[in-house]
Amino acid sequence: MADDSSDGGRIDLRSDTVTVPTPDMRRAMANAEVGDDVYGEDPTVNALEAEVAALFGHQAALFVPSGVMGNQIGIRTLVPPSGELLCCSDAHIVTYEGGAPAGHGGIQTRTWTARRCVIDVDTVLSMVRMDDGHTVPTTAVAVENTHNRGGGSIQPIDRLQALSTALHERGLLLHCDGARIWNAHVATGTPLATYGGCVDTISVCLSKGLGAPVGSVLVSTAERIALARRYRQRLGGQMRQAGILAAAGRFALAHNIERLADDHENARVLATALGLDPAGVDTNIVVRDVPDSVAFVRQAADAGVRCGGSGPTRVRFVTHLGIERDDVVRAGRALAPLLTD
Ligand SMILES: Cc1ncc(COP(=O)(O)O)c(C=O)c1O
Repeated sequence: MADDSSDGGRIDLRSDTVTVPTPDMRRAMANAEVGDDVYGEDPTVNALEAEVAALFGHQAALFVPSGVMGNQIGIRTLVPPSGELLCCSDAHIVTYEGGAPAGHGGIQTRTWTARRCVIDVDTVLSMVRMDDGHTVPTTAVAVENTHNRGGGSIQPIDRLQALSTALHERGLLLHCDGARIWNAHVATGTPLATYGGCVDTISVCLSKGLGAPVGSVLVSTAERIALARRYRQRLGGQMRQAGILAAAGRFALAHNIERLADDHENARVLATALGLDPAGVDTNIVVRDVPDSVAFVRQAADAGVRCGGSGPTRVRFVTHLGIERDDVVRAGRALAPLLTD
């Protein structure tokens, strides 16, 4: 196992956010050309933003410190205060973002449920409320791809395209939490620009599977990104010589996308060792039901494997660039005695 993600010899499968920059990435950061990004003068940030916008086929992009900020700014550019956003009940936006849609944006959220959190277009459309002078009108929909609490599930591109078309016909907008869109892209071969073509805003993370230490990028039209820049400032998210961080992101884009296929294969190997059907693993996340997740996480740590609870009776394992095949094989062996069913 790479030293980076080891924790006293334990195999750390809690999240793909636990990676630390490799020596090559650190070199890229140290050598980055920088300037004051609040003046728009950091060439490395500007290059990163242009590169990510182009990858998704959009006009512009904004470097932000976190995926939460990317999502929250993104939805605020789409939905006015007192407007409504529809999303999955297990979406990161309504589960792990501190109530920010209401707290910062005055946005009302209403949620659907779906098996493995994979969207059903008719279900989503059936929830849309138009403005009849009485109801709260729906303004936008948010999807998550891949879906974290869905177990790394992929939103099928045909469904995304159908949803996008139907929403736009109704004058509604679509945001994507694309923290792990790279995993969906590698697993399906769907071009990033095809995913980008479905959505009005997408927030993508550099600090998950891609292995950068910090940062996300919000992608949209030039007009919306100008507005997003104002919202970023209001949240205190503007940074100065941020090129040091953007350089890590650029390095990650150049070197760490295609290798995500290894993480997916390692996740399938782990799933098999945990008694699951590997065909049910879309990307780099494995979830398993256990009688008591708190007890299981503790016992797993004692057995040398770190994982995370994902509800009272569910645990989550995430593969990443600090994890090699041998690690998942050893993790499977260490965990097998803890699995009673
Ligand atoms: C799907 C998803 N969206 C957004 C985020 C937020 O990213 P950050 O931790 O950079 O704020 C995460 C974090 O794990 C995530 O899994």
